[in-house]
Amino acid sequence: MTTNFPDRLDLLLEFGPEVLVNSIAITETFKVNFGFFTSLRMTEEVAGFPIKTFGNDRLGGAGMTGSAFKLLSFIYACDIIAGMNTLFYGDNLKVLRESIKDESVDLVYLDPPFNSKRDYNILYREPMGSSSSAQITAFEDTWHWTDETERTFQELMDTASPPLAEMMRAFRGFVGVNDVMAYLTMMAIRLVELRRVLKPTGSLYLHCDPTASHYLKILLDTVFGKKNFRNEIVWKRTSSHNSGKRYGPINDIIFFYTKNDEYTWNTIYQSYSENYLNKFYRHTDKDGRRYRLSDLTGAGIRHGETGKKWKGINPTAKGRHWMRPPSELDKWEKEGRIYWPSKGGMPAFKRYLDEMPGGPCQSNWTDINPISAQAAERLGFPTQKPVALLERIISASSNEGDVVLDPFCGCGTTIAAAEKLGRQWLGIDVTYLAINLIENRLKEHFPNSKFEVTGTPTDVASARDLARRDKHQFEWWAISLVGARPNNDKKKGGDTGIDGIRYFRVSPTETVKVVVSVKGGEHLAPTMVRDLKGVMERENAAMGIFISLEKPTAGMKKEAASAGVYKTPLGATYPKLQLFTIEELLNNAKVHAPSQDETFKKAGFIDTSKQQEIEY
Ligand SMILES: C[S@@+](CC[C@H](N)C(=O)[O-])C[C@H]1O[C@@H](n2cnc3c(N)ncnc32)[C@H](O)[C@@H]1O
Repeated sequence: MTTNFPDRLDLLLEFGPEVLVNSIAITETFKVNFGFFTSLRMTEEVAGFPIKTFGNDRLGGAGMTGSAFKLLSFIYACDIIAGMNTLFYGDNLKVLRESIKDESVDLVYLDPPFNSKRDYNILYREPMGSSSSAQITAFEDTWHWTDETERTFQELMDTASPPLAEMMRAFRGFVGVNDVMAYLTMMAIRLVELRRVLKPTGSLYLHCDPTASHYLKILLDTVFGKKNFRNEIVWKRTSSHNSGKRYGPINDIIFFYTKNDEYTWNTIYQSYSENYLNKFYRHTDKDGRRYRLSDLTGAGIRHGETGKKWKGINPTAKGRHWMRPPSELDKWEKEGRIYWPSKGGMPAFKRYLDEMPGGPCQSNWTDINPISAQAAERLGFPTQKPVALLERIISASSNEGDVVLDPFCGCGTTIAAAEKLGRQWLGIDVTYLAINLIENRLKEHFPNSKFEVTGTPTDVASARDLARRDKHQFEWWAISLVGARPNNDKKKGGDTGIDGIRYFRVSPTETVKVVVSVKGGEHLAPTMVRDLKGVMERENAAMGIFISLEKPTAGMKKEAASAGVYKTPLGATYPKLQLFTIEELLNNAKVHAPSQDETFKKAGFIDTSKQQEIEY
């Protein structure tokens, strides 16, 4: 069932103040953020209801007031699976299928990996101006034909609409079974889901580049229908690119499709080009206002007011009529809006530049610059798109309060733009680093933003599951629990015995390093702590943090204690080597360390190096 929240809000408000329990936060979030409310309903504090879980059988539960009953009925009626403003960590196909309802999203923007056959690194700057940039492989942009792809292809043959199944079969015959076909198969099954979750008035923007845009257009035509193709937007993403013996490839392609003929649309205006201004806005008033001239008459004669003489000029004699009745022309004359040519002739209307909205935006976007190395919004995430690009798309194809979904959300550009423009949002990414980056971005740029993160471990069992499924993602997640960021690129074979790194400022001029080691396995031994001690010495680290899934042994604790304490220049002392279990960290255990933290957020994501050279 689709929920139209603004309509439901009126209904809810009717139920009276006691339903909006003594919490201003609730009334506020009702208006903008249903997801927050959805999660709140589980807590006693908000509900004030003697109920924590929520289900059909509990609706009439003992102890609830009539209003509370209505409130819960209301929530139930909304039938919400995912609250809005949610970050999902996981494969978007699974998340779409399990958590995003049919026809619940107004706008989808997706910027999937482009089959460029390369890995993308996140760059981290060292805090005290060190020249070397740590690089971590954020995601691998390589699709191979595997058993899984074959299964997905067969699923498309069995379940997709006949045109899509037929098209994929033809693609396979023509493209062959290779990486490109794997990429197209992965995209096809997701596009079907993305169309499903779009509201009937919804739109989809697919960001890609000429590597695969020709194939993707065919795919989109098949999934959305040719008649729902609206634009191929060409975005000039950089000013030049040297490429021997061919023209420099400097543009991306963004396909714009809608689900139907009727869709949300707000015309976007762009400032006029210098060329246009010089050609048309050639006049300037005494007070400096720039203007162009427009006809005051239109073709054809009229017998009413607009056909009459004005200021001695008879438009009928010239086979024309005034654009407005003479009384209005008088008003314009008084306002100084009529232009009289010095050599005589027909007067004209002055159209002032400062009153014009600009020109309607065209499909060739050359006015949104790539993120420069110095840009404040730069996070060091490869393939990060400018917020201005997403602001344009979101403003054109959604309204305030609408739901925007980015199923390949990277470092969260769509989410930041949606948050800024008062939209609800859903973001999905399969890389834990991306999710962590977005959490930090939101906390830093939108401290009042309310959102949920799902898919990341919330208890020991799910942490163990992640460790079993993906060691790297588990380590990235575990070090984030102590505010650290990855240190070396193990995906590329580098292993220095350090999984994470964190910095603390201990005086105005001194920052110390803390190294983090994570063990996701079942077998722990004192030698592991001893190894970390060795690494701390080698790296000249002030402190070390050892994180494990299992409880440390007595021998390990003894080994950690033998490391002694770290003393800051101001004389505070902290255990030099601290052991934590995942369970303790999930229960909010904190690292004992100086409070002036100069680490992750500010130092972490600013790149000063070569990212600009990344080529898709
Ligand atoms: C090109 S980047 C997106 C960049 C983003 N537009 C931004 O401005 O930051 C593609 C992202 O898709 C993610 N990704 C790749 N495959 C995915 C999948 N199956 N499910 C969810 N996310 C995926 C990658 O981890 C990566 O962060």
